[in-house]
Amino acid sequence: MVSKKIVSLIALLAVIALSSGLQVKAQGGRVGVKKESFGKADGRDVFLYTLTNARGAEARITNYGGILVSLKMPDRKGKFDDIVLGYDNLDGYLKNNGPYMGALIGRYGNRIAKGRFTLNGVEYKLATNNGENHLHGGIKGFDKVVWDTKPLRTKAGEALELTYLSRDGEEGYPGNLTARVTYTLTNNNELKIDYSATTDKDTIVNLTHHSYFNLAGQGSGDILNHQLMIAATRFTPIDAGSIPTGELRSVNGTPFDFTRPTAIGAHINDADEQLKNGSGYDHNFVLNGQMGVLRLAAKAYEATTGREMEVWTTEPGLQFYSGNFLDGTITGKEGKVYNKRYGFCLETQHFPDSPNKPQFPSTVLRKGSRYHTTTIYRFTTQKR
Ligand code: GLA
Repeated sequence: MVSKKIVSLIALLAVIALSSGLQVKAQGGRVGVKKESFGKADGRDVFLYTLTNARGAEARITNYGGILVSLKMPDRKGKFDDIVLGYDNLDGYLKNNGPYMGALIGRYGNRIAKGRFTLNGVEYKLATNNGENHLHGGIKGFDKVVWDTKPLRTKAGEALELTYLSRDGEEGYPGNLTARVTYTLTNNNELKIDYSATTDKDTIVNLTHHSYFNLAGQGSGDILNHQLMIAATRFTPIDAGSIPTGELRSVNGTPFDFTRPTAIGAHINDADEQLKNGSGYDHNFVLNGQMGVLRLAAKAYEATTGREMEVWTTEPGLQFYSGNFLDGTITGKEGKVYNKRYGFCLETQHFPDSPNKPQFPSTVLRKGSRYHTTTIYRFTTQKR
């Protein structure tokens, strides 16, 4: 009896070892986190961390800007491709990351009108870096700082914890803000991002992640044939300076209706004032369901490879940006030139300019309380 059990246990272990071995071989890496030097920024050492899961999927993250440098996921035939835009080396990010490729964004994702807001009766003046407005945290946002790191082995998978202390007054924001972001590459081919923050003085915070995805493979072409679904019946229209007007508008009968899977390119060139203001899609969608609850926000599908990405989040909003400002001036990884709309971003967030829009969900973080949000990018393949 006992020996039979042992034999079947050994057989089972052998099968597991063999199958995980085969899976890992598919990508060439080993399950775990590998750390290597990626250069220096601000006089500090910068590293590249490679997270590999049991299925051979791989995420490479640097502690400069918390940037996701590459993300390799299988297609329907099991072939791995890198599906995010970026650079091969740190120099590219240091010199030329105007588009925020792969970066963590903070303290505030997207725009704050005129870089001004009032909190507790005090007006704060932030750095302006997008015309008269403040964008993605200012001149030196969280995408351009060196984060402290700690690799973690969690139940869900290999993880990397990044921590950054943003000093009182940095880019004009009040309070010493300690931001902590954990990337986990789960064994279900999910990239899970947990964001948290605490402050010693009331402040505002709105953290997000700015990867440009191309599910057919980075640099392989434009993303106009991706089928996109966004679980939002309303969006926040913008003015010519990309600041929300404050209205929550129904997507019904507009090019912003992605409630059913629709090609990104289907209406992108329609004569529409909102598409004109955004130079394409560059808008915040008001996600259905309850904020604070992890729920499906969006799905994108690429037919030639069968790759599908789901985005799950606790956030109330999602910025869908169709890579309108990519213009072929960037040569990214493996010598690939990034032309207009070669990638798209799905940035989970609170709404842009919330500090000046009392009707929007609040982005105020009070001293003594904790900010916490979760977003998951989940990858599968479909046969259809
Ligand atoms: C966000 C903004 C865009 C643009 C990109 C980066 O999505 O809304 O206007 O700044 O980031 O280029």
